[in-house]
Amino acid sequence: MKKEEIIFRYSKVFPKAARVTYAPIVGVKAKNAKVWDIEGREYIDFLSDAAVQNVGHNNERVVRAIKEQADELIHFTFIYGYTVEPLLLAEKLVKISPIENSKVVLGLSGSDANDGAIKFARAYTKRRTILSYLGSYYGATYGAMSITGLDFETRALVGELSDVHYIPYPDCYRCPFGQEKGKCHLKCISYLEYKFEKEVYADGVAALFAEPIQGDAGMIVPPDDYFKKLKKILDEHGILLVVDEVQSGLGRTGKWFAIEHFGVVPDIITLAKPLGGGLPISAIIGKEEIMESLPPLGHTFTLSGSPVVSRAALAVIEEIEEKNLLKRAEKLGDYTMKRLKKMQEEHELIGDVRGKGLMIGVDLVKDRETKERAFDEAKKVVWRAYELGLVLAFLHGNVLRIQPPLTIEKELLDEGLDRLEQAIADVEEGKVDDKVLKIVQGW
Ligand SMILES: Cc1ncc(COP(=O)(O)O)c(C=O)c1O
Repeated sequence: MKKEEIIFRYSKVFPKAARVTYAPIVGVKAKNAKVWDIEGREYIDFLSDAAVQNVGHNNERVVRAIKEQADELIHFTFIYGYTVEPLLLAEKLVKISPIENSKVVLGLSGSDANDGAIKFARAYTKRRTILSYLGSYYGATYGAMSITGLDFETRALVGELSDVHYIPYPDCYRCPFGQEKGKCHLKCISYLEYKFEKEVYADGVAALFAEPIQGDAGMIVPPDDYFKKLKKILDEHGILLVVDEVQSGLGRTGKWFAIEHFGVVPDIITLAKPLGGGLPISAIIGKEEIMESLPPLGHTFTLSGSPVVSRAALAVIEEIEEKNLLKRAEKLGDYTMKRLKKMQEEHELIGDVRGKGLMIGVDLVKDRETKERAFDEAKKVVWRAYELGLVLAFLHGNVLRIQPPLTIEKELLDEGLDRLEQAIADVEEGKVDDKVLKIVQGW
């Protein structure tokens, strides 16, 4: 099949709700940080399948585990009976999690993990209200959609869970309170107290859901002391802290869980994306008493705990441990940040570079003073990167998403950064045609 034919046939069977397109790459093969398309072109992958391939595409250990397990037992439901693989995985997750005395529920996607977390938080606290952040993304199922702080259009069409309230995320580059970094006395924290005074009954709040680094909003990193101050207020009112590590977890930021950068221990963690090395799996890790608050079958799925996917997930974790990928993510992340900051000095289009480990955002702006988002330019950079052989995407319309596998070879990382800089320079010099704006969709 030819690429054009595949793309045409996609439009015939997949509705727009199921997709958001960037570059027209038809992938046929991948290895570590390289992807090949149907025309035999080779790309460097700075996207890792949207932060999925933390240990690299088709990681040998993961592939071996999948093949070995598929030969023996693909599925024997661990809901009714017992299999060893999900047990070993859950024990491992409990071990690496910062939450003491935790228990685990396995699922299939980040969305269902967040739905589950809403249920556990409400059942345990016997309270209904959920606090969330503007700009947050928790997924596409009803519960996750209902606490998401983006895409209010879908919800307006289909309805949503009630008792959800929002607060602004601590964004030091575009502070929602008009403050300047370092001089603000954390207005975002005092706003929470104001919210409790004026709108939300604090002692009726079950949980606050937070991404430790807000991913789809454009890689927003909170101030170092934000979560400590926040947790103190939550504790005063018996409000649980649920952290969504779906995008930031499993080594992406240089720690198992990004929340560990901020010195607080949450009550519940949700995980998905990278856990299965590309196979569908999610996990909710929470304090034992919280996880025991729902009745039998209160949150489970027929195909959860798959022996094959559990083996893949165990292989992902072993790979991170044995290859010391936490350290590697930190080191390569520091190096990438330095190179990007250097690019920022030379390219007016780059307004801000931020992130932790290999979870980095490059915020493109039309004007550094006004910080107006450079939406068209971001589309053009992604397109030019594609032409230069780099898989790239943007978030919030203008923030380039730099999330290569933690295993990317240093030379390949450099080559990818060179291509990125070339793409930015070409856009600045007007070398990318406006017609690509109609092709690159993004979000
Ligand atoms: C932070 C975060 N939470 C939840 C999700 C939803 O995960 P899934 O697409 O696996 O349902 C995503 C996906 O992009 C995410 O980035």
